[in-house]
Amino acid sequence: MMLLRFLKAATVACGIALAGVSMAQAATNKDLFLKDDARCTECHDEADAPELLAIGKTRHGVKADGRTPTCTSCHGKSDKHVDYKGKDKPPKTDTSFGKKSTTTPQAKNEACLSCHQKDSKRSHWEGSVHQTRDVACSSCHLIHAAEDKVRNKKTEAEVCYACHKEQRAQVNKPSRHPIPEGKVACSDCHNAHGSAGPSLMVRDSVVDTCYTCHMEKRGPFVRNHQPVQEDCSICHNSHGTTNANLLKTRGPFLCQQCHEPTTHQGNVASLTGASTSANTAARDCLNCHTQIHGTNNPANISNERTFRR
Ligand code: HEC
Ligand code: HEC
Ligand code: HEC
Ligand code: HEC
Ligand code: HEC
Ligand code: HEC
Ligand code: HEC
Ligand code: HEC
Ligand code: HEC
Ligand code: HEC
Repeated sequence: MMLLRFLKAATVACGIALAGVSMAQAATNKDLFLKDDARCTECHDEADAPELLAIGKTRHGVKADGRTPTCTSCHGKSDKHVDYKGKDKPPKTDTSFGKKSTTTPQAKNEACLSCHQKDSKRSHWEGSVHQTRDVACSSCHLIHAAEDKVRNKKTEAEVCYACHKEQRAQVNKPSRHPIPEGKVACSDCHNAHGSAGPSLMVRDSVVDTCYTCHMEKRGPFVRNHQPVQEDCSICHNSHGTTNANLLKTRGPFLCQQCHEPTTHQGNVASLTGASTSANTAARDCLNCHTQIHGTNNPANISNERTFRR
């Protein structure tokens, strides 16, 4: 098979030379020498791997767009590879992406960034966790497939789970965001390409990221609960938990981490009329403090100030 292909390539080259057709003339024939692609598709066609030419169905295959890459924009000129005449496998291309590739992650990424550096979504790629930990663009993106799994909300998480097993386990817990249903995606909260915020948040902070969907938690409230303004993940694990409402810890323990159980917070019976189990039964502290994210009751309304209405 392979030998046949080399012969085919050799014959074509030979034929051109014999017929006396100048290379310059041939190069102007766009169908034959489509911006370098033909040098490659001579050997790499549907018979090679059907998947390979599916690139034509992606945004990288829009020939009418002058910015569209050719094989060599990503794989390099690869003269040694193209001109190889031996019987064994040819030497690798200049930029090779496969598992056995010896191309450094940096060089792989440069092949993509030569065109995609300016995209605003990737302005924090340099120095991001993924960049510094040698994750390549091609670790997530499938270039030759008609469908790039990581850009489909329903299949995106599978790509991430290959490296993030802990999050897979969390997302399968009873309380979770509807990620398996494809209604919320990792990329709704994280920018895999880097960000100015913590933990690759799509916004500059955790709270701002959550507000994009949970606007009602933003307020402004007359009385704020300090940790809510600071970082939602003090109380919630966004991926999933065994406690309801994505809570990291069950009440009253969640609250007692910060509110020392010296007053009614430890012994609720110290409040006139309160049942002794009001701190532990049903919604625990929230039996009374229902507006835990903030309230519009001013501090001087003594009966209602403490997030109770
Ligand atoms: C003369 C035939 C021939 C030509 C022309 C050719 N290749 Fe190849 N290519 C091969 C063979 C044979 C293999 C090995 C296939 C295997 O490993 O099963 C290969 C493997 C590859 C691989 C996988 C190994 C690697 O380097 O990562 C890539 C990528 C590749 N070719 C890209 C190209 C590109 C891009 C061009 C044009 C610049 C090109 N090829 C031109 C024959 C050719
Ligand atoms: C936008 C960048 C890009 C372009 C354009 C591109 N490739 Fe690739 N190629 C890749 C990446 C990345 C891989 C690694 C596997 C993957 O992501 O599908 C790859 C893998 C390959 C392989 C190895 C496949 C395997 O299964 O081992 C071959 C052969 C190949 N490309 C040939 C070509 C040819 C021929 C062209 C032109 C028709 C081309 N490539 C255009 C980025 C590109
Ligand atoms: C020669 C320039 C060029 C190179 C090199 C290149 N791309 Fe692209 N890429 C484009 C163009 C043009 C588009 C079309 C979308 C657009 O308008 O920006 C595109 C689109 C994409 C898209 C899909 C965007 C969409 O909206 O559908 C992804 C993902 C992508 N490129 C990733 C890569 C990766 C990964 C590499 C490296 C393996 C790479 N590109 C190399 C020019 C390039
Ligand atoms: C950790 C996985 C991951 C890595 C690594 C990664 N991407 Fe992406 N990429 C995604 C996801 C998820 C999306 C779709 C959601 C989004 O746009 O944030 C995406 C979307 C894109 C798009 C199309 C939408 C847009 O932003 O314009 C382009 C182009 C792109 N990536 C290029 C790149 C390039 C170039 C690199 C390497 C520098 C890279 N990606 C590295 C996961 C990744
Ligand atoms: C609703 C928003 C949201 C979604 C959706 C989300 N995350 Fe997160 N993720 C966060 C927040 C907030 C943090 C930082 C605080 C924390 O660790 O709880 C984080 C932290 C992480 C971390 C770092 C954990 C550590 O221990 O430092 C990884 C890895 C991660 N997420 C991967 C994922 C993956 C993979 C997905 C998709 C399956 C995903 N996330 C979906 C909000 C989200
Ligand atoms: C090829 C492996 C790989 C893939 C695929 C991958 N990651 Fe990562 N990711 C890493 C590594 C390595 C780290 C560094 C920390 C660690 O070891 O967990 C990391 C860290 C993170 C962090 C923590 C950032 C911080 O500042 O603490 C988040 C969030 C994250 N990845 C999200 C994602 C998302 C979302 C996807 C899918 C779109 C994804 N990752 C796909 C390898 C990967
Ligand atoms: C892309 C939109 C989106 C973003 C961003 C988002 N959420 Fe959600 N959140 C949802 C959806 C959808 C639900 C499920 C609502 C339902 O089932 O009725 C949900 C539910 C919740 C729940 C209740 C879970 C339960 O078990 O009932 C909590 C708590 C929550 N989100 C916290 C957060 C936090 C914290 C952040 C920021 C790190 C965040 N969300 C970011 C869309 C989002
Ligand atoms: C001090 C701990 C704490 C912090 C910080 C916190 N929450 Fe909550 N959250 C809770 C508790 C407790 C519940 C359960 C409320 C209930 O059962 O009425 C809850 C429930 C929720 C729910 C589901 C029920 C509802 O009210 O819609 C969402 C959504 C939510 N929180 C989002 C957020 C967001 C977004 C942030 C950050 C802006 C945040 N939380 C910060 C403790 C907290
Ligand atoms: C991460 C620490 C933290 C956690 C967890 C926490 N809080 Fe708070 N809470 C605070 C801080 C800080 C204040 C502001 C204290 C002040 O202004 O003196 C506050 C204020 C309050 C107030 C108003 C106090 C006043 O004097 O007006 C109430 C009521 C309250 N929290 C209830 C709760 C409940 C109920 C929970 C559990 C769902 C909880 N808190 C979880 C840190 C926390
Ligand atoms: C039976 C209803 C009830 C329950 C249950 C309850 N509280 Fe309260 N809490 C109140 C009332 C009423 C006040 C206002 C007391 C005042 O103004 O003197 C208050 C005030 C507070 C304050 C303000 C400072 C203080 O101690 O007066 C904090 C903090 C607080 N509660 C935390 C908690 C925590 C944490 C829990 C759960 C361990 C909890 N509460 C359970 C009714 C309750």
